Amino acid sequence: MCGIVGIASRTPFSASMLLGRLKRLEYRGYDSFGYYDGREIKKHVGNIRVEGRGLTRTGISHTRWATHGGVTEPNAHPHAACDRSVVAVHNGIIENFEDLKRVLVRKGHRFASETDSEVISHFVEEGLKTKPIRSVLADLMKSISGTFAALIMLEGRNEIYAVKRDSPLVLGVSKDLTVVASDIYAFSDLTTEAAFFENDEIAEITAGGYAFFDGRGRAVAKPLRKFDLQPEPALRRAHKHYMLKEILEEPAAVDRLLFSLANDQKPEFDELIRLMRRAKKIIFASCGTSYHASLLGAYFLHRVGVENQTLIASEFRHFANVDRDTLVLALSQSGETMDVIDSLNYARECGGRLVSLVNVPYSTIQRMSGLSLNLLAGQEVCVASTKAFVSQAAFMLRIAQEFGFRVNLANLADRIRGLLRKREQIRGIAETFAPARDLYVIGRGLTYPVAREIALKIKEISYIHAEGMMGGELKHGTIALIEKGTPVISVINTNDPDIISNTKEVEARGAVTIPITNNPAVWRRPRAVAVRTDNDGKFGILAAVAGQLMAYYAADKLGRPIDKPRNLAKSVTVK
Ligand code: F6R
Repeated sequence: MCGIVGIASRTPFSASMLLGRLKRLEYRGYDSFGYYDGREIKKHVGNIRVEGRGLTRTGISHTRWATHGGVTEPNAHPHAACDRSVVAVHNGIIENFEDLKRVLVRKGHRFASETDSEVISHFVEEGLKTKPIRSVLADLMKSISGTFAALIMLEGRNEIYAVKRDSPLVLGVSKDLTVVASDIYAFSDLTTEAAFFENDEIAEITAGGYAFFDGRGRAVAKPLRKFDLQPEPALRRAHKHYMLKEILEEPAAVDRLLFSLANDQKPEFDELIRLMRRAKKIIFASCGTSYHASLLGAYFLHRVGVENQTLIASEFRHFANVDRDTLVLALSQSGETMDVIDSLNYARECGGRLVSLVNVPYSTIQRMSGLSLNLLAGQEVCVASTKAFVSQAAFMLRIAQEFGFRVNLANLADRIRGLLRKREQIRGIAETFAPARDLYVIGRGLTYPVAREIALKIKEISYIHAEGMMGGELKHGTIALIEKGTPVISVINTNDPDIISNTKEVEARGAVTIPITNNPAVWRRPRAVAVRTDNDGKFGILAAVAGQLMAYYAADKLGRPIDKPRNLAKSVTVK
C-alpha cells in the first residue's frame, strides 16, 4: 500500500505543502517518498521529511510501501518516462507489468527501476506519440490488469491526470486549489468538500477545478460532497507517541459514538437493527483488530441468542454461504481494506445485503454498502489500531444491548478512564515481560477475542512473539512450550473456573502469569491488573485496553518505533 497526493493551485506553493499532505498519509507506507514539482523529481529513502523550498503551482507526490522492488531511491516514486516528458506516481499493483514492459522495451524504452509502476509513464509517453492524452489514458486503463490509483503530469503543463481502479482516490476542492489524494485525511484541514472516484474513471485536475470521464472518454457528472471530520489535533503534542495519545482518546471516542448512535445516527442504527432482525443469516467480515472486535461482538450476540458468524475477510469466500437473506456486516477502521472489499464484492455477487461500520467517511467500504455507520473514533495515526477497536467493541455491545444483553453503557467511558489512570502500574508489569522472547495470552469465551487482540498488539508493537489463544486449547499441544519463566497473560472474567484452572496449569509448568481480571479474589496477586466492573461485556473492552497499554509500555521499554511498526502498513491489505 502506498499514499499519493497531487495539488494544482492558483497560487504558488512549496514542496513542503505537498509533503505536509503526504505526511498525513504516512500510515499507508513509509519506506521511501518522493515528489515532482513540474521541474525536478526528488526521491528519498526513509520517513517523509516535510521540506523543500522551490515554488510551483502543480505537483504530485508519493509515499511508498515496497511491493515490487527493494527499498531504494530508484524504486521510489515518481517515475519518469525516458525523456522525462511524463511523470507518474502509482498506488496499487499492476499484475501484467512484465508483459507491458516487454512491449515497451521492444519499442526502445529504458526502465530505471524494478517497480511495476514505472510502466505507466512509459506507456503514456509511447501513446502520446500518436494520440491525445485522454485516449492514451483510456488505453492505459484497458491495458492494465490489477489495481491502481495513479497521478500523471506532463512536462510544461499545469494539469494532473488521475486514473483509478480499486485503489482509493478522492479529490478535494478549496477556493485556491484542487487536491487529489488517497484519502480525505490528506486534505481534511484544507477543505470539507470532496468528489469521490469510482472505478475506471479518469480525471483532469487543474487549479480551477476538475473534469471526470469514463473509460470511453464520456464526461461523468461528479458533484462535490460535504464531509465533516472530527477535528484532530495535528500533533501528538504532550504524548511521546501517537499510540499512547490514541489510547488516551478512547473514553472520548466511545462517548462520541454512543451519543451519535442515540442522536444523529439513530435512524441508521435503528435500520441496522431492523435488518439484523429480518436477516436469516448474519455474517461479519473483517481483518486483524477489526476481526477481533467482531469476534467479541459474535460472542455478545450469541449470549442473547442471535445466530451469527464472523469470518476473517481473506477467507470469507471459502467459508461463507451468502444468499439473498444474508446480512454481511463489514467492520473496518480504514474502510479500504482490500480483503474486506473482496468479501463484500463476493457477498454482493451472491445476493447478500451489505452493511458496514467504518471510521473513514466515504471510504470504499462505506460507499459500497447499502447502509453504513460512522465509527467516529477520529483519525488513527499510529499503525496499531487502538481507539478504533474500543469503539468497534462498544458498537457491538450496543447492538447486543438491543437484543437483550444487559449492560449499562452510560459509564463505559468512565470505566475506561479509571483503567487508564492505572497506566503507571501497567507500565511496571509490562517492563517485567518486555525482555521475553515468547509470550502467551489466554482467554475463554468472552476473553478469547480479547486474548487474540492483546497478543496481536504485543507482536505488532514490541516484536515479542505472542500467541493469543483459547485457554482450553493449551492442553492440546501449546502447553509443551510453557517453561519456567514464560510470561502468560491470563484474561480472567469473574469466577470463570475454566480460565482459572488454565492459569494454574501454566503456573504448574513454571509460567509467570499476569492476570487481567475483574475477579477481586485475584486482584491481590503479584502482577495482577484489577479491572473494576462486574459486567462482562464491559470487562471484555476494559481488559483489551489494559492489554493495549501493556503492549505500548513493553515496546517503549524496548525502544521500538511504536507508531510505525516494521512490516506493517496500516490497515489496507496490499493488492
Ligand atoms: C492492528 C491493525 C490491523 C487492522 C487490519 C484491518 O493493530 O491495525 O490488524 O485492524 O489491517 O484494518 P481495517 O480495520 O482498516 O479494515
